[in-house]
Amino acid sequence: MTDEPAGGGAPSSSGLLWPRLADPPRRFDWAVLPTPVDRAPWLDTPHATVWIKRDDRSSPIYGGGKVRKLQWVLANPPYDGDAPVLSMGGTGSHHLLALALFLAPQRRTLHALVFEQPWTPHVRRNLAVLVSTGAKLWTAKTRPGLGVAWLAYRLWRRPAIAGTYMAAGASTALGCFGFIEAALELAAQIAAGALPRPDVIYLTAGSAGSCAGLLVGLALAGVSTHVHLVSSVEAWAFNGVLLRRKLAAAEGELRARGLVDAPTGGVMRWLERAGVTFAIDHAEVGGGYGAPTAAGLDAVALAGAHGLALETTYTAKCLAALRRIEAARGGPRRNVLWWNTHAGNDLSDRIAPDWRARCPIAVPDE
Ligand SMILES: Cc1ncc(COP(=O)(O)O)c(C=O)c1O
Repeated sequence: MTDEPAGGGAPSSSGLLWPRLADPPRRFDWAVLPTPVDRAPWLDTPHATVWIKRDDRSSPIYGGGKVRKLQWVLANPPYDGDAPVLSMGGTGSHHLLALALFLAPQRRTLHALVFEQPWTPHVRRNLAVLVSTGAKLWTAKTRPGLGVAWLAYRLWRRPAIAGTYMAAGASTALGCFGFIEAALELAAQIAAGALPRPDVIYLTAGSAGSCAGLLVGLALAGVSTHVHLVSSVEAWAFNGVLLRRKLAAAEGELRARGLVDAPTGGVMRWLERAGVTFAIDHAEVGGGYGAPTAAGLDAVALAGAHGLALETTYTAKCLAALRRIEAARGGPRRNVLWWNTHAGNDLSDRIAPDWRARCPIAVPDE
């Protein structure tokens, strides 16, 4: 366990993945790992015994899955210099928020292309913190409108201040390393008896870096299991084709970094041989990305009663899928792991009193 508060420091080569690579990339030591695995009897059914992977506790600055990715991505070119970083997301984006919070100790600025998603108190709070970090925003009403925000950015920027573009969700090939390592961490917890090998893992998916990394990491660790991917976005934004592409990119990056004992035959064969399977589930998307659903709100309330702060865009929908599927299932009892990817941090003291005046978006009152 690392007690180091995250957010600064020099990149090193450390962690569980590093010894398996002949030419490892650098990595900040930002995340507090391993994150605990807790039993959750309140989610059990007659046919399911449920554990939670507590990534909500992965950082005192900003936890969830994002710090796992960013500690790799921000330690390596092209994101390791002094330049601002340009990225995109919704008004409540956890990715943009995490990026801004981890760039701040480096005295670097985030340039953000932001589209409006349905307003909830959580989205409003995330935006308030994002603006308070000093991030600069170029905004659009809708996701397709981001093209116009991008043009506005191109017109505004000058070479000296241009941001280096980072894919949404930090789901670059190197970003996937965060969840490859997370799978190695889980394998070590299974080996140490913290939990039995899960028959199924529930994980939410958006830009697909987390799930691609986890799948590849499970194959690398030799953990045979099924991963149920609960999409938080519409099928055009996350689907089997995009996932396969991301899987290939993650595996390609591992090879490029000198994966010791690299398997032959491509990433899909590798998963097959390791007994790692997956399914993609769009049933919880409801009214679209960021739109709260009744089942999601129920999940938020239930988790809240057990001390877990969820949000309605990703983790609530994932837990709703778990509850729906496990309640309907018969058959032998199985071991279920729900991966909680949402940061639990209270960021209210990071909100500047004048954030609304600084925000280029007219934010409706609560
Ligand atoms: C809380 C939370 N969980 C999960 C995800 C999905 O991760 P990925 O974009 O890697 O699919 C996100 C993405 O922003 C998120 O904010």
